[in-house]
Formats: sequence, structure tokens, C-alpha cells
Amino acid sequence: MCGIIGYIGEEDAVPIIIEGLKKLEYRGYDSAGIAVYTENGFDVLKQKGRLSGLEEKLSGGFPQSHQGIGHTRWATHGEPSDINSHPHLGTDSKIAIVHNGIIENYKQLKEYLESKGVVFASQTDSEVIAQLAEYYYEGDIMDTVCKVSSRLEGSYALGIMCSDDPNTLIAVKKDNPLIIGISEHGNLIASDVPALLKHTNKVYYLDDNEIAVLKSDSINFFDFDMDEVDKTLETITWSMDSAEKGGYPHFMLKEIMEQPKVLRDTINSMMTDTENNRILEEIDIRKFDKIIITACGSAYNAGVVSKYVFEELCRFPLIEVELASEFRYKNSVINDKTLVILVSQSGETADTIAAMREAKSKGAVTLSIVNVIGSTIAKESDYTIFTAAGPEIAVATTKAFSAQLVLLYFLAVRFSKKLGRLDEALYEKLEQEIVSLPDKATEVLEHIDFIQKYASNSVAYKSVFFIGRNIDYAIALEGSLKLKEISYIHSEAYAGGELKHGTIALIDGENTLVVGIACCKRLFPKTLSNIEQVLSRGANVLFVSNIEQVTTDEKTSKITIPDIYDLFSPSLSVIALQLFSYYVAANRGCDIDKPRNLAKSVTVE
Ligand code: M6R
Repeated sequence: MCGIIGYIGEEDAVPIIIEGLKKLEYRGYDSAGIAVYTENGFDVLKQKGRLSGLEEKLSGGFPQSHQGIGHTRWATHGEPSDINSHPHLGTDSKIAIVHNGIIENYKQLKEYLESKGVVFASQTDSEVIAQLAEYYYEGDIMDTVCKVSSRLEGSYALGIMCSDDPNTLIAVKKDNPLIIGISEHGNLIASDVPALLKHTNKVYYLDDNEIAVLKSDSINFFDFDMDEVDKTLETITWSMDSAEKGGYPHFMLKEIMEQPKVLRDTINSMMTDTENNRILEEIDIRKFDKIIITACGSAYNAGVVSKYVFEELCRFPLIEVELASEFRYKNSVINDKTLVILVSQSGETADTIAAMREAKSKGAVTLSIVNVIGSTIAKESDYTIFTAAGPEIAVATTKAFSAQLVLLYFLAVRFSKKLGRLDEALYEKLEQEIVSLPDKATEVLEHIDFIQKYASNSVAYKSVFFIGRNIDYAIALEGSLKLKEISYIHSEAYAGGELKHGTIALIDGENTLVVGIACCKRLFPKTLSNIEQVLSRGANVLFVSNIEQVTTDEKTSKITIPDIYDLFSPSLSVIALQLFSYYVAANRGCDIDKPRNLAKSVTVE
């Protein structure tokens, strides 16, 4: 959570920082702030709330500068307020910092500094970094940075400026992402690639316990012992347009509409002569006796879908799906015969990183499915395959989720083949079914007008339940998460058969909408009878199905999606569910791309 950016170069730092923060705002939007260096020292402006508030304040006048740092905050320690916003300065205003992460021992450090007479201005853990730096500072900022880093426990990506050393911008990383961009007019630091794309596609990925020293025309890297480190300059393939709304009112809608392309690109990434394919070939599934899929949020839901696919296709004896936040503390029975599959768009989710490290420490082999190249999970897992979703900006994931699903299908099909469970003909058929997904996704998107209209009449529900069986239940989890996170309507997902064991008591006549997902053909009659049960208790029903039989009336509406191999149908039904959530939220006037209390990359526990 939180986004940081810094610039040093020939141009005015202020617009570069503000534009960069706009691209990072998905990481947190409780407050924003900027500090620039001028001949009078640091000028700092901070504002509680969205970045637009800071921009308004800036329009009242702010000095130009060739060097500055900026921050967009997701509050952890200390309420969202102007004073708790970053950048933070030490008491003597000599050192300014922006921080993404959590300093776990900040209380001890704060007490220590207070005992030495340091007076703190904010309630944040981050201020301790600026104060500690000033406390240690004796004229050599690099020496100070190393000393401070050795005292900090927790996670941090830092941008640091020192007023005695105005031509230097320092970046430090431990357990939170930080990227260094090199452009024609200067050098930049940022928490994520989209913030840099306007200026460069040439980047260095800072590793843990590394320091970058940026001047306007040079960058050097060091470890915490001050030994110089060699790093490789990488080229980003994402285009600048991919991080823009491109005429859509929200990133979420743009990203929903991009799904046919994302599916196509991700499918292509699994064809012969690709890196993803080569990596998958390397994994001999026959060596393992257990597969654990672990992730958070929607990525976890993708894992739940894939468990059904793995079980059906691979007939593998032990396949588990675990929430990463549970897995990391669970003392699971795993060893070198366990394949742990990690799924993460950002590759920076704290719980998923911890789950990966836990799995590795117990000898398991880790395979990650990640969207962001250079991310921690991508770098640390034994094997990584990448989704080709491009930058996903909306907090609610859509296209990255779809890309994860497709790679998980491929995994299941390829593993199944290696295990000797598929004959060539079925193997070919399944791969062809996956290849047909992009065109069929386009067909689902053609329902947009109906869904928009239906959603506009669905804004007043107190509760929405998503039900389905088997694979339809798995995708119901994602439909429900999407709706609640962006529209704030209470919603739950239930396995159809569970309703009668308690949940049906919640059906409150026409105050309740039930979204029935029925794409698993063999279970269709069962789902249908569950739907009858809620209809007879007065609920309204929206059906998402590839089965023609469903008749509609004033209480039942239907979105028909193209037919496909049952196990892959979640890739189509989810698009209808995403559009539904999107338009419900839009009609409720919600801040769709930045839902309250959330941030896209959950880099804290
Ligand atoms: O970056 P990750 O895929 O690891 O993120 C996992 C979850 O935080 C994420 O899927 C979250 O649930 C989304 N907001 C859901 O739309």
C-alpha cells in the first residue's frame, strides 16, 4: 500500500511527481503529499484525501524544483490527516522521506528518540525514519542511510532527500517494491511501472537491502555495507496508453472491455517457443504428491476455480486451495514433494509473499502466476509464469483475474497430459476450448446494454446472493467479491446446496436479489431447483447461464453466455458478473476505481 515517487533531473519535478502519483493513486488514497528541494530548503505540501485535493492546494502556488519526492497514502499507523501525510521531515528539516511499508519497531525507536529530546509531529510509524536519520546524520547522507536501515525492522521502500546534498535522491528497498527509471531528462524512482511510463521504459528493479543513489545524470547501486552492486537495465514492454483510461469513464470498465485481448495475449504466451511454455515444460508434475494453490482475494478465487479444474483433469490425489493469510501461519504438512502455486497480480501481496517464503522454507517447490515482472513473488519463486494482462489500475481486478484463470487452465491441462490422464484428442480439444475463449468473451461483452439496464434497477437491494454449484459456485465467490468491493452492497456467495442449511433464512422477499450461475450442465437441474426455492420465497433472480432452457418472467432475468467446456465457463460467466457489479456501482455513484478503505497492492498484513 502507498505509492512513492521521486525525480531528479532537468525538468520541473512538480508536474512529474503529480502525474506519477496519479498513476500510483490506486495504491492508496487517504492523503497525498509532495516535497521539493529549493535553495531555501524543503518546500512541503500535504493534503488529506484524494490527490485532487493536493492538486488544488498546489494551484495556489508552489516553487519549481529539479528534485522532489511524492507520496500517496493508505493509512496504517495514524488516521488519514494532513499531518500524518508524507513526506515526513526530521525536526531540523534537513532530511525528507517518503515511505511505503510498515516499520514494526517504530514504537521502540520513537521512545528512544523521544528520550533524546526528539519531538514527533505525527502519529505515523514513518516519521521515525526521518527523525532517526536526522539523529544519526553527521554530514554523510549515505552513511546515515546505512545506519538507519540497520535499525529498521519491517518493510520499506523509501525516497530520501537531504538538504545538505541537494543533487542527490536516494532510494532504499526492503520487502516493498521500488523501481528506478532512467530517462533522457533525468532519473526517477517509483513504486510501480505505470508512474514511469510517460518518461521511460528503461528501468532497474531494486532488490531487497539495496540503495540507489540518483543524480540527474547517473545512478549507482549499493548494498547496506556500501559495496557497489551491478544491476541490469530492463526494458518494459507495457505501452503508455495501457496506463490511461482511453476514453472510458473508469479504468475498471476499460479493463473489463480489454479482456478478449488479454485472454488472447495470455493464451499466446502459452504456445510453443514462449518463456511461459518453456518454464511449464520444466516442471515434472509426477515428482509431486500434493499441490497447494495459495493467494488472496480474487487471486484466491481464481485458485478455487482451478481446484475444480485440477481435480477433474489431473485426478491428482491432494489438491488444496488456501488463503495465503491462513497458509502462512498454519504449519501445513509440506515438503519437497509439494508444489505450491502462488497467484498474484501485483506479485507484492504481503500475505502471498509470506506464504511463498513459508513454503520454500519447508522445501516445497514454488510456482507463481504473476502479472508484474520484477515483483517480489516473480523474483523469489522457483518458477514464474506471467499473465499478459498489462497494467491493471482499477483496484477491483478484472482482466488480471481472467488472465490468471487461463494460465491455471493451461497448468491443469498440461499437468494432466504429463500425468498420462489425457489422450491426444482430448488434450487437443481442451486446448482448443481455451483458445476459443477470447471470441466468446467478446460475445459476453455484447450483453453490455442489457446488463447496464438491469443493474440500474438493482441499486436498492440490501443483499445480493450469488449461488451456483461446482465451478459455478467457485465463480460465484468472485462475483460476490466484485459487487461488495465496488458497490458496498452486502453480498455473499453460497454453494446452491447449502442454502437450505441456513442461508435461505436471509431471503427477504423482493429486497433480495439472487444471482444464479448455471453453466455446469450436469448440475443444471439442481441449481434450477435452488433457484425455484428462492423464487418461491419472493426473491428476484438474475440467471447467468449457457443453457437455453431458462425462462424469464417479471422476477427472473437472464444473461446467456456462449457454450464452452464446463470447466472453463467461469472465464465467461465472470465477465457478465463484472459488468453487473460495475454498473450497479456506477448507478450508486460509487468511486469505482478507488473503492473506500481499499488499495490495490496489499503490501501490509
Ligand atoms: O495483487 P494480488 O493479486 O496478490 O492481490 C490479491 C488481492 O488483494 C486482490 O485480488 C483483491 O482481492 C482485489 N481488490 C479484488 O478485486
